[in-house]
Amino acid sequence: MRLPHLTLALVGLVFAIGLLGANAPVFAAPAATTPPSPAATPAALPPGPKAPPSGAAIAQTCAGCHGTEGRLKAAAFMALAGMPKAQFVQAMRDFRSGKRPATLMRHVAEGFSDGEIDAMAAYFAAVKPE
Ligand code: HEC
Repeated sequence: MRLPHLTLALVGLVFAIGLLGANAPVFAAPAATTPPSPAATPAALPPGPKAPPSGAAIAQTCAGCHGTEGRLKAAAFMALAGMPKAQFVQAMRDFRSGKRPATLMRHVAEGFSDGEIDAMAAYFAAVKPE
């Protein structure tokens, strides 16, 4: 299991994030604070009519831990890029309800509505993992 490693890594990371600010380039992800340009998020979202909250925009709040665009090479945390929609939605709902045990993700997931989770699911599913 990778959870014990995760927990250890977390202690350090959470402090680092706290000290540097959530958007600091802790993972050497220089674009973390830059809003995604259309070119940076290819085909992530169809240019639909008045989409609710953009999944690409909301997903920026995940970059501090999961990497810009959910792509993470140094894997202290899981990468989200390319995660199938249904799996992502299930994971977020289970974190939110407490069904899936989590050190951090329950608090994260509690902040999002079903619509926002769906929007992020579409975004991450469309990002190609590297
Ligand atoms: C403060 C760090 C942090 C932030 C910010 C964060 N996560 Fe996580 N994420 C974690 C950790 C740690 C885990 C492992 C589960 C746990 O212990 O909480 C995880 C696990 C996950 C998983 C499960 C991955 C898998 O392989 O099953 C998903 C999905 C996820 N996060 C989505 C998100 C989304 C979406 C956001 C932004 C809205 C986000 N996370 C923001 C730390 C974070």
